[in-house]
Amino acid sequence: MAARPMPALSDKHAMAALPPKIDMLFGEATGELLDLLAALHGRCFDKGWTPASFAQLLGKPGCGLAIASNDGVFVGFIMFQRAEVEAEIVTLAVDPSVRGEGIGKCLVEELADWARQSGVETLFLEVASNNETAIALYRNVGFVENGRRPEYYRIKTTLGSINKVDALCMALRLNSRKTADD
Ligand SMILES: CC(C)(COP(=O)(O)OP(=O)(O)OC[C@H]1O[C@@H](n2cnc3c(N)ncnc32)[C@H](O)[C@@H]1OP(=O)(O)O)[C@@H](O)C(=O)NCCC(=O)NCCS
Repeated sequence: MAARPMPALSDKHAMAALPPKIDMLFGEATGELLDLLAALHGRCFDKGWTPASFAQLLGKPGCGLAIASNDGVFVGFIMFQRAEVEAEIVTLAVDPSVRGEGIGKCLVEELADWARQSGVETLFLEVASNNETAIALYRNVGFVENGRRPEYYRIKTTLGSINKVDALCMALRLNSRKTADD
């Protein structure tokens, strides 16, 4: 898949003016973008991924990104992996300084639009069952729960013990059959 030109990105933080600009990216990313992805992921998750792991994931067939930026400021991204008529959300992250402004929802909806137009029929994801914010977002967009993986995540507590958390499996049917108008 051919890479599309990326916006100028910066690691500066600023108040997001809605709606964000969303760019889709397939294939290899620049070193600057890999650093930005890893830095934002590290601000959003206990175990952040390295630039090298992002490079490895993005090198996989069917893997892509939707990137949210505001006036050139990188504010969030969603990573996905497509396989034929299914696609999985690999990770979703919005900078803590601009949460609650609709950016996460915009990223999921933009991905769903792209996926539907590309012939994907179902979007899947797994989310920690205690991640109420993300679950609320996914339900809000139309995802429904279709399974649970017991003790799927092992999360280290501040006291150093390991907390085992179930994964909630969710799916969004896209009714993606193309019409003559598409
Ligand atoms: C989950 C996350 C991506 C949400 O991003 P966001 O930009 O703040 O979300 P939005 O502003 O687009 O909110 C969209 C919907 O999500 C839900 N939501 C968002 N924040 C919420 C909160 N604090 N409490 C409850 N529901 C919330 C609401 O349904 C909201 O819709 P509404 O505004 O119409 O009520 C963001 O909190 C994040 O990056 N968290 C850390 C990483 C993470 O958990 N990723 C998901 C892993 S699967």
